Amino acid sequence: MQVKPNFPFVLHGGDYNPEQWPIETWDEDVRLMQRAGWNIATLPVFGWGNLQLGENEWNFTWLDQVIEKLHSGGIRLCLATGTAATPPWIDQAYPDILRTDSKGVKRRHGGRHTCCPHSPNFARLSTGLATKMAERYGSHPALLLWHISNEYGETCYCNLCAEAFRSWLKVRYGTLAELNFRWNMAFWGQTYTDWSQIEPPVENAQRNFQGLLIDYDRFQSESLHNQCLAEMEVLRRITPQIPITTNFMGTFKPLDYHKWAPDLDIISWDSYPARNATPSQIALRHSLMRGLKDGQPWMLMEQTPSQQNWQSYNSLKRPGVMRLWSYQAMAHGADAVMYFQWRRSPGAQEMLHGAVVEHAGREDARVFKEVAALGAELARIEKVTLGGRVKTDVAFLFDWENWWAVEYSSGPSVDLKYIKVMETLYSALFDLGIVADVVSPNSDLSGYRLIVAPALKMVKPGVAESIKAAVQGGASFITTFFSGITDATDRAFTNGYPGPLSDLLGIWVEESDALAQDDRNGLHFSDQSESQCSLLCDRIQLQGAEAIAHYTKDFYAGEPAITVFPYGEGAAFYLGTLPDRAGLKSVFRSAIRRSGVTMPHGISVPKDVEITERVSELGSLLYILNHNSNEVEILLPARNYRSVIDDAVVNHTLTLPAYGVAILTTEV
Ligand code: GLA
Ligand code: ZN
Repeated sequence: MQVKPNFPFVLHGGDYNPEQWPIETWDEDVRLMQRAGWNIATLPVFGWGNLQLGENEWNFTWLDQVIEKLHSGGIRLCLATGTAATPPWIDQAYPDILRTDSKGVKRRHGGRHTCCPHSPNFARLSTGLATKMAERYGSHPALLLWHISNEYGETCYCNLCAEAFRSWLKVRYGTLAELNFRWNMAFWGQTYTDWSQIEPPVENAQRNFQGLLIDYDRFQSESLHNQCLAEMEVLRRITPQIPITTNFMGTFKPLDYHKWAPDLDIISWDSYPARNATPSQIALRHSLMRGLKDGQPWMLMEQTPSQQNWQSYNSLKRPGVMRLWSYQAMAHGADAVMYFQWRRSPGAQEMLHGAVVEHAGREDARVFKEVAALGAELARIEKVTLGGRVKTDVAFLFDWENWWAVEYSSGPSVDLKYIKVMETLYSALFDLGIVADVVSPNSDLSGYRLIVAPALKMVKPGVAESIKAAVQGGASFITTFFSGITDATDRAFTNGYPGPLSDLLGIWVEESDALAQDDRNGLHFSDQSESQCSLLCDRIQLQGAEAIAHYTKDFYAGEPAITVFPYGEGAAFYLGTLPDRAGLKSVFRSAIRRSGVTMPHGISVPKDVEITERVSELGSLLYILNHNSNEVEILLPARNYRSVIDDAVVNHTLTLPAYGVAILTTEV
């Protein structure tokens, strides 16, 4: 049974690791948390070694004390099960817990997330700790939600995993003959004659069969998912009323979050943009995380208040940027703005990681003041912002298995990277003032007016059908090169590319030319405009579609490069190549026009200004975010808005300072 999270406020808080500091600091922590407008603390994420000192030896005293201090200070709890790092004595006593890496080397003790998902001792001990935590704190009045483990994600190649993989394959394929067929093991005469011959794909073993590689990723994602479910079962049994999350990592390749999401009550994720990340790169990840649970509000579980310590250059977030990025998460559906971490570690790896409280412990520091100001602001506006859902008519299709399939492919180009293609298309639309949902191809597509499927190499059963139904009903569809190549087992479609999408697109893709990094072809559009294109150039045969751009160079000059095919009430576009920004925007413009997609409230925004709309039963809120380091002006349609943050009436022109944010309502 799932629990519907119903948080009373925008969660503002984050990771708290008090065990790294003497007890005298804890009262000061609570005092400062109140000053910072924190209402929630996440702990004890890495508490295992300080809680379980031996097989039957426990010490919860420190945690009891901290929790009471937080509670009496009015700080709620995001309680971690604490299982993200095993203590030294456990790894020493139970070596089956330690993972084997992709080189086939067994780990020694150290670090975190080092456990094998099939280790029986890990299962026993981690659920043991989760049980203790749930029994001890499950009815604590401060408990708001559970946080299982932390950032799941490491792959294991040990013998326990190998055995479990073979059993998993038996269930999946039934017979070895079927597996041999699906993976095309006749290639290089590699046909298996016994299940025991199948090895995990470590670096010096079988890595030439995409079917095997993709299945191993599926299997490991599912194995870690099961590990999470084991702890979840404990929590559901003891505290059925408390919502559960585990923190995700956005475009994190190893885990198929679409498979994990249905079990969680709320999605949370850790956003650590690189210093040169573009607003649309951040927006894409928020949209992906929002799409995991059908647009339900989610949590920004971690962001650094100032800087990271693990990038090459850990630049400071400029004044205002932490606030801007917090509101950007909210603009994309977050009901929580949380940080890693409360107080800087006094030593070890994260000593220099940004925190709300610096080593000096002062509340007159820039970062502390920015956090406190945001906390106060959120407390003022949360009543109207909570619970809204982002409104958009546009969906990008994103599929982890397809990601693996695209990148395990040998050819056509080393530069063909799934996320890169996704980002390029998403940002072209972002530039036009439209943010999209990012959803699984298997989700309900019927409500969308525009559906974009970048590099959808793997077309799984039912997907072509649901896209066709949406287009029949009037939606526009855009897909690209390297789509419709394989089925769900990564076997090629042998009836011509793009496989089951061919009749929707009205084309046959005969060949695909790879362009080296600096190579360009030209595009001549039917409106006489010219653009450049790169990456791949498909040679397209029209089978009913009309070309809207042709190549200008090489032996295929004059041939179709971008096509459109009217289908039912809608239209399907095919990009046989990657146009430059201007070219891409012109294709999106025609798809938008055809499908009737509009900007929120019809407002057009200058470059790097983002606009989204969240709708709740209280009405509609427009989030307008200036990602520029200079002031901008935005023209509003002739009606009055009220600015939720400063309660001012805004009409005709909204002026936003550098990194400024406005939340507008029409309820004046
Ligand atoms: C991750 C982890 C945190 C911390 C931060 C540092 O998100 O979940 O424990 O290590 O990274 O950026
Ligand atoms: Zn293992």
